[in-house]
Amino acid sequence: MARKRVAILISGRGSNMTALIEAAKDPSYPADIALVFSNRPDAAGLARARAAGITTAIVDHTQFSGDREGFERILDETLLAAHIDIVCLAGFMRLLTPWFVGRWTNRMLNIHPALLPAFKGLDTHARARATGVKIHGATVHFVVPEMDSGPIVVQGAVPVRDDDTEETLAARVLAIEHRIYPLALRLVAENRVRVVDGRCMIHDAVAKPGSFIVPEI
Ligand code: GRF
Repeated sequence: MARKRVAILISGRGSNMTALIEAAKDPSYPADIALVFSNRPDAAGLARARAAGITTAIVDHTQFSGDREGFERILDETLLAAHIDIVCLAGFMRLLTPWFVGRWTNRMLNIHPALLPAFKGLDTHARARATGVKIHGATVHFVVPEMDSGPIVVQGAVPVRDDDTEETLAARVLAIEHRIYPLALRLVAENRVRVVDGRCMIHDAVAKPGSFIVPEI
């Protein structure tokens, strides 16, 4: 099967982007990172992408004051010109309109640093600590118009320790993010994920140990 062409959309440091780039270096990985796109010219991840030899594109959203769709039309054209099959949001800090999301239904993934549907939005680690949950983690899901919702592809869980600070908890979650995003993209690129009634059915999931990541205490 031909490798799927993937665009990663970033706004910042791009550590999840780097995890995907590293995974795609394996010739047996079913996806190729064809493009890294940023809405911020100063995103640190851009230099990391260029160093890895990946084409980058920048469209500064501040140039489109109030015209969200104008920005997204250029983004969409950029993706089409690069023959992109799958879009991965990786710390992309722009809300996307229903129009753009609809163009990429079941072909656009996002990673969120919490076990959805818990802790949608920002400051997830501080809220997890404050709430006293014992298990926290990260979720890769298909993007739907509602923020931090959409069919869940993979989740990874980590323990919350009594002596955790927001920073130590964030670091533990980030490490699991870097494991589950390449796994989720692999499943989608291999056409093993079917969305049925808002849920992801993973073909052959049980037969592959390691597909599900659970806390190590
Ligand atoms: C990650 O925690 C991700 O879950 C969230 O934004 C952060 C991006 O970090 N959506 P990085 O840019 O991938 O390092």
